[in-house]
Amino acid sequence: MFVTARPTANQDQIPVDIVAAIQELKKSMNAVILAHYYQDSEIQDVADFIGDSLELSRRAASTDADVIVFAGVHFMAETAKILNPQKLVLLPDLAAGCSLADSCPPEAFAAFKAQHPNHIVISYINCTADIKALSDIICTSSNAVKIVKQIPLDQGIIFAPDRNLGRYVMQQADRELVLWQGSCMVHEIFSEKKLIQLKINHPHAEVIAHPECEQAVLQHADFIGSTSALLKYTAESPSTQFIIATEPGIIHQMQKAQPHKQFIPAPPTTNCACNECPHMRLNTLEKLYLAMRDRTPEITMPEDVRLAALRPMERMLAMS
Ligand code: 13P
Ligand code: SF4
Repeated sequence: MFVTARPTANQDQIPVDIVAAIQELKKSMNAVILAHYYQDSEIQDVADFIGDSLELSRRAASTDADVIVFAGVHFMAETAKILNPQKLVLLPDLAAGCSLADSCPPEAFAAFKAQHPNHIVISYINCTADIKALSDIICTSSNAVKIVKQIPLDQGIIFAPDRNLGRYVMQQADRELVLWQGSCMVHEIFSEKKLIQLKINHPHAEVIAHPECEQAVLQHADFIGSTSALLKYTAESPSTQFIIATEPGIIHQMQKAQPHKQFIPAPPTTNCACNECPHMRLNTLEKLYLAMRDRTPEITMPEDVRLAALRPMERMLAMS
């Protein structure tokens, strides 16, 4: 029997110059490509704007493009849709979820909230639209402390879903929060033991870490901040060597901005590339092109959920 190898339905239509094709589509669709720092470097390089969660939300809120192509994970594209109900919001791979968002199911969270009826809910933006809809204020890793500090001291606060960011905010704002026990699989994989060894091998390196990391890792950090804050820090610090305890996608921008400096990813507990976010990395340049060409997969949500999720988002944008 004679069998011919057939390219998959999608692959056979990928243009040779995919970057040029994406640029063409961008113009013809009046689209904007927003990318998170944890995306593959080739995606970052075609993006109109690269940022942390807060910056991406601000961009999504202010864009005049007709189409938002969100190179990030589902909750980020959902956030863009919450802010832009009239616009087409595309996510290159609809399966690009988030372990942290998944760690906070709405029914269980509603029951948790009911146990603390006098508390307000501040939720980290890394959560589903359903959780945003159950929240009073949204925050990101760059404004969480600032937002918590604006709440009167006698007001109880539930902080969800990330227990690590929550603990960090408690320390920084010097007040108690009721924490939902969620976490990010990427930021909990770093090995304290290997980090200590790496510090010994690189005595002049500064350790910089994202607040989604566990306390065991954060206690070794010279600087803690959101992805944008970490990037800024590496540009402003006189140090020339950094150990990076967050998703290594950020190193692409660090290296671009400071080519003479060295950026060493903090090691995970295992020997795999587990510090790369498997959800973020589901997006590829090919999927991004196909999403634009076919105007799908599109982010949609019920209007009542969108409106309920919009209110705490708007409060965050006003408070940060
Ligand atoms: P920031 O972009 O706010 O630093 O968040 C990091 C993250 O985990 C996004 O998924
Ligand atoms: Fe979610 Fe963590 Fe991946 Fe960010 S890095 S998208 S919080 S799993």
